[in-house]
Amino acid sequence: MNISRFALCETPFYYYNLTLLQQTLDSITAATADSPNFHVHYALKACVAHEVLQIIAQHGFGADCVSGGEIEMAHQHGFAANDIVFAGVGKADWEILRALDLGIQCFNVESLPELEIINELAARKNLVARVAFRINPNVDAHTHAKITTGLNENKFGLALEDTLPAIRRAASLTNIQFIGLHFHIGSQITKLDSYRELCIRINELQSSLEEEGIFVPTLNVGGGLGVNYTAPDTEAIPDFASYFTIFKQELQLREGQSVHFELGRSIVAQCGSLISRVLYVKEGHSKRFVIVDAGMTDLIRPAMYGSTHQIDNLSHPEAPKASFDVVGPICESSDVFATDYVMPTPQRGDLLAFRSAGAYGEIMASQYNCRRLPGHIAE
Ligand code: LLP
Repeated sequence: MNISRFALCETPFYYYNLTLLQQTLDSITAATADSPNFHVHYALKACVAHEVLQIIAQHGFGADCVSGGEIEMAHQHGFAANDIVFAGVGKADWEILRALDLGIQCFNVESLPELEIINELAARKNLVARVAFRINPNVDAHTHAKITTGLNENKFGLALEDTLPAIRRAASLTNIQFIGLHFHIGSQITKLDSYRELCIRINELQSSLEEEGIFVPTLNVGGGLGVNYTAPDTEAIPDFASYFTIFKQELQLREGQSVHFELGRSIVAQCGSLISRVLYVKEGHSKRFVIVDAGMTDLIRPAMYGSTHQIDNLSHPEAPKASFDVVGPICESSDVFATDYVMPTPQRGDLLAFRSAGAYGEIMASQYNCRRLPGHIAE
């Protein structure tokens, strides 16, 4: 990080390290090089900073989108329509129509009523929509409740037992082509055994479908690989080799079958930091507060998921260490980045970096309290 350059920038802002991003992409490509049937789609929901998207599109990955806005963003940044998949429990008609017009690779359908509407809208345009069914495999991702998606009680996908009726219904619809099954069990998954369990569930499901004479061309196993928030410097690039090895070893693939992955966080989290300036250091009744100019409006993860981000004092890394609560300026008690955090003692004007903020950081920013949205620099 070029801190002298930061001194001239208006804070708070996001900083993206594009060299690390490129190394991360190369590491994924190396880990999948022996599996030409593996295809990686970047989950745009994690970050859509222009420079970041451009590099990922140029690298040749596909796009995983969950809204018409994301589809537009992917399209504008050069992701081929045929490499875009569209998931989400509540696709609006205009979003479906736009996706049909572009000719995206696949709709990841999450309910039977949605299937009927896609068929109806495709018929209106005399097109055939390719669909995969998102199946809820009831696998516990052992992650935060707010980012667990694959349990029976979650709103996502179809229940396992509804798979066969859904495929049969799809076969009877003239403007629908069934091309695969989709699974996504959650995010920030660090216990890789959850993926092993997912593979077992997929294998069982495949065998039972085969008995009914059904072949599934594409298996989309979703995303969710976690990153190391506590040691971003020692593990700047996630262990993609171990992650992909699970699927290589456990998934029982049929001839001609392809496997799709939808990675978001693991691609962009470590390459981004939120840079903020210290406004005040306040002696409270029983605590010392570092009040910074970034708030939960700029990085909502700590307030929303209780997540922790390493905080570096960029201006005075060698200052004596002490314990502080690092808080933002928003009028909410949850606007706290860290409590009892031991760091080099900051002073007014110091620049702090909230690390591992490239995923679900800038993209989740809001204007609550009539604040400006953070900008970014990428280099
Ligand atoms: N595919 C689907 C269907 C998803 O719902 C998600 C994330 C992904 C792929 C990408 O997952 P990833 O590889 O990034 O874990 N805002 C939360 C995370 C929400 C994740 C939502 N879905 C956070 O800041 O932790």
